[in-house]
Amino acid sequence: MVVKNVKIYVLGEDYAGYNSPFLSQHGLSFLIKIEDESEKIKNILFDVGTYAKPILFNMKLLHLDPQEIDAIILSHSHVDHTGGVVEMVKAIQKNPIPIFAHPHIFKTSFALDPEFSLANSLTESIKKDVERSGGRWILSSDPIRLIEGVSTLGEIKKEEQLEFEKTPTIKLYYIEDGRLVEDRVEDEIGLYIETRKGLIIVSGCSHPGIVSMIKKAIHLSGVNKVYAVIGGFHLIDANEDRINKTIAHLKKLGVERIYTGHCTGFKAEYRLSEEFGERFERLHAGKVIEI
Ligand SMILES: [Fe+2]
Ligand SMILES: [Fe+2]
Repeated sequence: MVVKNVKIYVLGEDYAGYNSPFLSQHGLSFLIKIEDESEKIKNILFDVGTYAKPILFNMKLLHLDPQEIDAIILSHSHVDHTGGVVEMVKAIQKNPIPIFAHPHIFKTSFALDPEFSLANSLTESIKKDVERSGGRWILSSDPIRLIEGVSTLGEIKKEEQLEFEKTPTIKLYYIEDGRLVEDRVEDEIGLYIETRKGLIIVSGCSHPGIVSMIKKAIHLSGVNKVYAVIGGFHLIDANEDRINKTIAHLKKLGVERIYTGHCTGFKAEYRLSEEFGERFERLHAGKVIEI
């Protein structure tokens, strides 16, 4: 079953757009407005940026009411996708407001290079703060269907990752049983939406690899046609070979439209814009994508 209309509002992005009244920040946040065949509307907040304030400011400019949000999805643990969660839950003023995420979203992940720095912000005390404000955590590594034609991707398992995407896009670690373990950001989940034009795949940073995430969406939905891919691709530190392979796969999969920015990086964006022409669009705060 496909949904009737989808409108995606970019509420948080690293770029504000040219000559724009919107506020940027390091991080991502989308409001996804989905209308089904019976004209019922669901508003899903996908990620909450590092800070809630610019998101709420941008919502006001777009005439969007936080109290109309029905659910939150946190794509992964990193602070630029989760930092605004307490303030956003407070602004939504609903009890309960479901928050979908991976069970490992509270792990303490960090970088060692160039110096020790924490990558995620969520702690047990934030978890409780969110609950006190009405948030209800739904932590699952399996896909969760939100409405007909709309589902999270769940964890992209190692065996579901394409060989060239198995190398983590970011060098992070966490401690397990007192030992230093490499973090493959297995906590990243994405979202797919089935529309009349084909699948829409929404991702945060695509740490497990954007192609592996698209393939999982195709597998879960049984729909082969991919209309749009929206989100950060984290190719900012990727070498030429990985960028080339990603583009080759996106073309082979017949992806119609690419909307990216955030952690995709200038080199990959430039290449995507060359290869996809008008079908590539740079994300920015305040952008509205209608499908
Ligand atoms: Fe990010
Ligand atoms: Fe990330």
